[in-house]
Amino acid sequence: MNLEIAGNVQGFKQQDGILTIKTAEAEARVYIYSPTIIRVSISKNFNPDDPSFAVIRQPLADFDFDESSANIDITTPALKLSIQKSPLRFNFFTAAGNSLSEDDARFGTNWQGERVICYRRLFEGERFIGLGEKTGNLDRRSAAYVNWNTDAPNHTPESDPLYKTFPFFIGLHSGLTYGLFLDNTHKSYFDFGASTDEETSWFGADGGDLNYYFFGAQGVAKIIEDYTWLTGRMEMPPLWSLGYQQCRWSYMSADEVLNIAQTFRKKQIPADVVYCDIDYMDDFKIFTWNKKTFPKPKQMLDKLKAMDFKLVTIVDPGIKVEEGYKEYDEGIEQDYFAKYPDGENYTGYVWPGRCHFPDFFREEVREWWGAAFTALTQPGVEGFWNDMNEPAAWGQNIPWIVKFGDKFMPEVRNAYGMQMARATYDGTRKIMGNKRPFVLTRAAYSGTQRYSAVWTGDNTGTDAHMLLGQRLVNSLGITGMSFIGVDIGGFSGNPTPELMVRWNSLGVYTPMFRNHAIQGSKMREPWEWGKNNEQIIKKDIEQRYKLLPYLYSSFYQSTQTGLPVSRTLAIEHSFDGNVFDERFQNEFMFGDAILVTPVESTKLTEDVYLPQGSWYRLSSDKFYEGEQIVNVQAPLTDLPVFVKAGGIIPMQSVVQSTNEKGDGILRIHIWNGREANSFIYYEDDGVSYDYEQGVYYKRVISFNPIEKSLSLSLVEGSFKSRFMQLRFVLHGFDGVKLQEEIVENKNGEIEVKL
Ligand code: GLC
Repeated sequence: MNLEIAGNVQGFKQQDGILTIKTAEAEARVYIYSPTIIRVSISKNFNPDDPSFAVIRQPLADFDFDESSANIDITTPALKLSIQKSPLRFNFFTAAGNSLSEDDARFGTNWQGERVICYRRLFEGERFIGLGEKTGNLDRRSAAYVNWNTDAPNHTPESDPLYKTFPFFIGLHSGLTYGLFLDNTHKSYFDFGASTDEETSWFGADGGDLNYYFFGAQGVAKIIEDYTWLTGRMEMPPLWSLGYQQCRWSYMSADEVLNIAQTFRKKQIPADVVYCDIDYMDDFKIFTWNKKTFPKPKQMLDKLKAMDFKLVTIVDPGIKVEEGYKEYDEGIEQDYFAKYPDGENYTGYVWPGRCHFPDFFREEVREWWGAAFTALTQPGVEGFWNDMNEPAAWGQNIPWIVKFGDKFMPEVRNAYGMQMARATYDGTRKIMGNKRPFVLTRAAYSGTQRYSAVWTGDNTGTDAHMLLGQRLVNSLGITGMSFIGVDIGGFSGNPTPELMVRWNSLGVYTPMFRNHAIQGSKMREPWEWGKNNEQIIKKDIEQRYKLLPYLYSSFYQSTQTGLPVSRTLAIEHSFDGNVFDERFQNEFMFGDAILVTPVESTKLTEDVYLPQGSWYRLSSDKFYEGEQIVNVQAPLTDLPVFVKAGGIIPMQSVVQSTNEKGDGILRIHIWNGREANSFIYYEDDGVSYDYEQGVYYKRVISFNPIEKSLSLSLVEGSFKSRFMQLRFVLHGFDGVKLQEEIVENKNGEIEVKL
């Protein structure tokens, strides 16, 4: 095997916003997207189309640079890229000249066959966060990862790769932050000093270009904002999808589905969603219903609707090979399936047996797939669960010679699930008129947040998996994914009742709150755990519903800034070593104000770390100064959850579903603090896209500790709030009479003296 190096710069030119640099072996192109985003792409053989599944922005049309005998320097108001000519190296600095990230002076970028790798300098004390759905520690220093979307049943807290590819990480060193996104769908590699002498980190891919976006903003939140500006942000989800979701592989008949929904209502345990896993279909044929067990889908959906329940149905990519089955016949006729180079359709085995796989990389295939959802939307389904889209085939080894679009499987495998989710989202959005579809996908690539929520696949019912799940959620949040769930209780195995209760209490603070279990496991619904536990689970689910106004506003924040709903403490406290301590690394902020500390089900007290600021325990208002480790009670009835001093949390009364109005009072809770704080409250109809036309209700709630006041700004938008009245609930204001005054929710400015 030859080693080919990039070599020395032989010439360069700038045209159409691209600085092209030539060496004997390769070419590099540099683009500027914003003062904090620079793209570098190095190749021996550029694809003239320059495709990207992830990036939705265009580079600037022009930029300046300076040349000296040794370097070509590009300076933006925030960043300096110094390109060394001999040999070619790319080194990034802050505007003030501090080094952010550098090529390894010895190796830079080079090739072994088609595999391209960039070796970089590892800084002293440098930490790494990100890469999305990756096991291991929050700090990825000394670990190595592979991106290769994989159906990973029975994965362990160490397994790699899992289902998704997000080749984006953030580096932290010397009090500085930078981000790097390798936009390449081939099998890719990231090594954060796992097996070197602490001098080198490296990343690269099995083929394609060494095409990366460098983010130089200071502050992790700002880098996330830039990364999601580049790759897109999620839309407002349908409000119902933020309620409690009950799933199982499978509720086997319409009667069973209805019975589950009825039981929630009878027991007055709030819930919004029930699922149909693969058994609702006729012989696992996608877009069909089993005529015996689900004979009248519309009738079932009408009954669910009358109970304020939504149904989510699963769809897998594998189309059963069976003449007379509409999707098979159409796919064959129109030539819509992935193929071998000789034109033969690729066949793999999945649930239905022999299957062909739609080629979601082609627009006409995506349109065909999207339109087929009428079989589900006509009876009234509004949620679409995209599974097995790594893509999975039994044996997990689709031949590398299979073609998707004009590419072989290894070149685009990592984007297949994303393209399926895109087809599902585009198609259902079109056929559902003005209603928001809910799309959920297992496999994903950077940018998937534009189309779909994700969940973390087939976990196991153990404490270690509960904690791993939280780490995955927190890490996915760094890479633009905000709407994330884990199978609460664990997909495989049978959790103990204690674990089920504990996991459910953590689910309250998980962006997508879904209980799911494998075929053959014990039933998992809230009433399956004994009377006492049922009450605890019910109370926790009620807490989720109370928090919905806060949660919906937190999702709005994700749509605007890309900041995730569940945030590792490393986002705000990036240089606080305790945050990365293995004891505390699973802790996270849920929105701006709530800090959650996951605790194993076997522990009834726990050491938790409270970062800078001061804190109140949510359940008791007990006060703690920050920057200390405290040992707290953690009974199964009371997961340790804290509110930041100055925190503002709008809540509502307990409702049984998001469709219920409740008592019409918005309770604005505020915890006393030394610093001013504000919260952007957002509301809309929760169902339609009217908010895009200004039909929303948005106002800023501000707390001013000096003036001792709480104020609400003028309302922006034309939506009329569901809440007719406001109530202010004060916490930690010694000497102030607990004010529970009710105020009319008027659109003008409102000020309350505390
Ligand atoms: C896969 C999914 C799981 C689903 C099952 C049956 O294992 O990850 O969630 O229940 O397939 O469809």
